[in-house]
Amino acid sequence: MRILEAAAELSAVVAGWRAAGERVAFVPTMGNLHAGHLSLVEYARGIADRVVASIYVNPTQFNDPDDFARYPKTMDEDSRRLKAAGCDLLFAPDEATVYPFGKRNAVLVDEPVISQGLCGAFRPGHFRGVTTVVCRLFNLVRPDVAVFGQKDLQQLRVIERMVADLHMPVQVEGLPTVREADGLAMSSRNGRLTPEDRQNAAVLYRVLAKLRDQVAAGRHDYAAIQDEAMNALEAGGFRPEYVEVRCWDDLSSPKAGRSLVVLAAAWLGDTRLIDNLPI
Ligand code: PAJ
Repeated sequence: MRILEAAAELSAVVAGWRAAGERVAFVPTMGNLHAGHLSLVEYARGIADRVVASIYVNPTQFNDPDDFARYPKTMDEDSRRLKAAGCDLLFAPDEATVYPFGKRNAVLVDEPVISQGLCGAFRPGHFRGVTTVVCRLFNLVRPDVAVFGQKDLQQLRVIERMVADLHMPVQVEGLPTVREADGLAMSSRNGRLTPEDRQNAAVLYRVLAKLRDQVAAGRHDYAAIQDEAMNALEAGGFRPEYVEVRCWDDLSSPKAGRSLVVLAAAWLGDTRLIDNLPI
């Protein structure tokens, strides 16, 4: 596996692959990789001739500077695991490569609909940072297909909208959430939980699973069952931000005849966890 930091080298390598008729898949990450990230790389390996992963902790998507500063950096271990998962090229750019005119002078990409509400309501500017960096990464890597996790479902839907609206020549795929044995969605942030909070963290999954089962059983009193779920999270030691039933494909409010999903975000100690379950 090659590790490249420079845009020009990356372009040359990918252009060579493309010239040889090879299909290129891309898995963007912020590093500190776990089995969820690696499932995306393994899937990419199966659908393309070449797999590029990126590790870049994007400053513009952190609404909390503290969160950015303490984001875990585990480059050596990450590159070892990417290689083992079948990644051909790890792109690890620095800030000047991603934001050549500086992040304060950056051209921004702003998706105005799907990015509102849910996490968007609690993390102002977060999704603008995500679309801004993913657009740049797509332009740098020029993949045929890009693979994302459904764990960050709002992020996935916002990126799909960006790609469709801006006619970006890339196919976007979303893969199911990989979980720990007790149901907790794998996340780089789980490592920040105290041992006691870690024991408790799967309550989020269990509360969402109950809500999913209620909706699947035909309950339509969404406000009431969302409230119950908020209370159950509080009783479990969480500080919930939201619990919501939405349409699966565009996260709009639930409508008859559409596939649905339940989503939640909640703090446990000083760690913010998100999860969702399709119905
Ligand atoms: P990061 O949080 O590192 O996640 C990288 C990719 O891994 C995302 O597509 C995310 O949805 C996926 N992922 C995370 N946990 C997962 C799990 N348990 N199961 C399956 N997939 C999982 O998301 C980002 O980075 C950034 O916002 C990024 C898109 C790289 C832009 O900076």
